[in-house]
Amino acid sequence: MEGEILQNVSGEVELKNVKLAYPSRPKNIIFEAFSLKVPAEKTVALVGGSSSGKSMVVVMLERFYDPLGGEIVLDGVIIHKL
Ligand SMILES: Nc1ncnc2c1ncn2[C@@H]1O[C@H](COP(=O)(O)OP(=O)(O)OP(=O)(O)O)[C@@H](O)[C@H]1O
Ligand SMILES: [Mg+2]
Repeated sequence: MEGEILQNVSGEVELKNVKLAYPSRPKNIIFEAFSLKVPAEKTVALVGGSSSGKSMVVVMLERFYDPLGGEIVLDGVIIHKL
């Protein structure tokens, strides 16, 4: 229980210059520098071809995989500090 605990989550999510490769396929870069800002209480659709990385955006937000570079921020706090 070392991480920061947000007392109130409004839900602004921002990906900043995220770099990602799937661990078992390190040479296959999924995102080189992907940025996306989702304002609190807004619904955003990710649209793209199969295997383009839509699900991996959510997987990183849930921290099943961490980005190799860049950062993911929830309400102004980098998620690995939460
Ligand atoms: N289980 C896995 N094994 C290896 N690579 C994977 C795996 N899951 C995802 N990837 C890698 O992540 C990339 C993005 O996949 P992702 O599942 O995010 O695509 P998607 O946009 O959600 O596709 P779909 O529309 O088919 O759901 C793939 O191109 C692949 O390189
Ligand atoms: Mg998917």
